Formats: sequence, structure tokens, C-alpha cells
Amino acid sequence: MNTRTSERIERAAKAAVEAALWAPSIHNTQPWSFGVCGDEICLRADPERKLRISDPAGRQQTIGCGAALFNVRVTLRALGYEPEVRRFPDPERPLLLATVRVRPGREPGEHVRLLNAEIDRRRTHRSGFTALPVPDPLIDALEAEVAAEGGRLAPIRTDASARVLAALTAAAQEVQSQDRLFVLELTRWARPPGSSRRDGVPAAGYPADPRRTHPQHFAQRDYARGHEWGLAQDERVSASTGLVALLTTAGDLREDWLRAGEALQRMLLHASAYGVSVAFHTQALEMPELREFIRTHLCSGEHPQMIMRLGFVIDESESMRRAPSDVLE
Ligand SMILES: Cc1cc2nc3c(=O)[nH]c(=O)nc-3n(C[C@H](O)[C@H](O)[C@H](O)COP(=O)(O)O)c2cc1C
Repeated sequence: MNTRTSERIERAAKAAVEAALWAPSIHNTQPWSFGVCGDEICLRADPERKLRISDPAGRQQTIGCGAALFNVRVTLRALGYEPEVRRFPDPERPLLLATVRVRPGREPGEHVRLLNAEIDRRRTHRSGFTALPVPDPLIDALEAEVAAEGGRLAPIRTDASARVLAALTAAAQEVQSQDRLFVLELTRWARPPGSSRRDGVPAAGYPADPRRTHPQHFAQRDYARGHEWGLAQDERVSASTGLVALLTTAGDLREDWLRAGEALQRMLLHASAYGVSVAFHTQALEMPELREFIRTHLCSGEHPQMIMRLGFVIDESESMRRAPSDVLE
């Protein structure tokens, strides 16, 4: 490989890492670190950024890292390269989640460009949706995106099942808000207005006074904890629950979690390209008994990885990321 080619590849690898940072992660912990060495990108889980109380096995951390991995893949494709991915390449180094070799590729297709354009535009939503339903053909397309990554997107079609999920979310939220360790962990990642930190959930990332949504209400995490933080919200147009959906996987190993993250991000980018935003409510999946209940009663025995609501919004929330130099080793 001549010097100009290798310089170009290294530039593409760095661009892919910059894009990776815009992946969603639990409480915006950004629980990853990257290395770029020649034509290879390494993705590692950062053990300091794992949530020891709510995510002791690192399941949610790995999902976030999987989403980051998907951003790497799409960015490289959009730049005309072929990502050669090895997941968990070294059993002796469990924190090394994946390596991606930057190989020569071809001109990106329309779909890759479409997904790539959404990477830094997509935002997590934390309140109700407008009454506009997500069109069925779009739901089918989102299901296909998740299936292409080996997962399953299961829209909840009955009111009764959506009510059960909402009730479990409320129960988990209530239990966690009474648990000192859960509260302390959340506090560590909730940022007050004006904070200069580039990680955690900013005060402009959620409504000050989340309204109840209809027909079901899904409890939000309490990032403000009694402070007057958060954005004013136009309640008239954002009171719908939206489409409730689960993302599930057949297995429940670390590989499945990483793949679930890739599937999640692929679906989120596709949704974002068509104006659909997504809210997450994963509290119940942090409580093993409730997660098991959801698995057996609502997921046909598959393992629930994410609980979400999808819909159209008029307001955008804010988010932020650390600088690439903070995550590049
Ligand atoms: C595994 C996982 C679980 C999440 N659970 C929740 C949740 O329960 N409630 C919530 O408001 N956001 C949740 N999020 C979204 C993150 O808070 C969000 O991605 C992060 O704050 C960065 O913001 P952004 O997605 O707008 O860029 C979750 C994200 C991931 C990857």
C-alpha cells in the first residue's frame, strides 16, 4: 500500500470513529474507547463507564457499543470502503468488542447515504408524540432493518400488551427511585443546566414536566430529581404514546447484545431518515425478574433488549458527546 492510500485509509478510519461517538448509550455514558492503527479500528468497552448497579453484566453498555460499531460500518461504506468486522476477536481480551479492517470498497448506494446522513441528526426523544401514526410500510422497513442484523423488532399491536409494558415500566421506575444506589448512579450521569461536561444526560435533553401520554403512559427516568431542570414543552401536540415496540434477540450472550446494538442503530437511523423519533424506557429490563417476565409473556421466549416508543415529534432535544481525542487511545 503506498503512503497516499494508507493516509487516506487512516483519515477514513478517524472519520468513522468520530461518527461512532454519536451512537446512543445508556445515560449517555459513551462507554467505549477506540484505537486506530493503520487500516484497523479497535472498539473496546470502557469498564470505568459501565453502570455497576443498573447494568452489572454490561448488557446495555454492549448495546451502546454495538450502535457505535454500526456507525463505523455505515461511515466507512459511505466513504467508499468495505468494513471487515470481527466481533470479539480475542477471547483473552474480553473488553475488545470488535476490530474493523478498512478494505477497498465501492461507491455507496442510496440507502447507505441515507443512513449515514442521520448519524449526527438522530436524537433520543423523552416525551409524547404527535397523533400522526407511524405508517405500516415504514414499520415493515424498520422490521427488515433489524432482521438484517439478526434481531427482531416486535411492534406491540394490542392495547393490553402495551398496558402491561407501561405498568412494568412504572413499577421498575418506582422501585429504582426508592433505591439509594440506583439514584446515586443516575445522579452521576444527570447534568445540571450550564454544565460543561460532554457526557451524561443534559438538562435540555428532556421536558421539565413530562405530560401523561395516551392511551398508555410510559414512566420517564427522573434525571431532574426535584430540580427545575428540563425544557418547557408544548403539551397540546405531543400527548400520544406512539408505537410501542420491543427489540429482541434469540440468544442472550455478549455477541447478541453487540448485534442488538447494531440492529438498534440501523433501525434508528432509518426511522430518523423518515422523520420518526424514538423514546426508550429500559427501566424494567434492568430488573432481572421483570426482564424474565417480559421475555416469557411478551417476547415469545426471545430476549428483550430494548423497550421503545416510536412516533413523529415537533420538538428536538439536545445531546452532546466527548471529543474524539477523549476516546481515541
Ligand atoms: C441500552 C440503552 C438504554 C437506554 N435507556 C434509556 C431510558 O430508559 N430512558 C431514556 O430516556 N433514554 C434511554 N436511552 C437513551 C440514552 O439516554 C441516549 O442515547 C443518550 O442520552 C444520548 O442521547 P442521544 O441518543 O439523544 O444522542 C438508552 C440508550 C441505550 C443505548
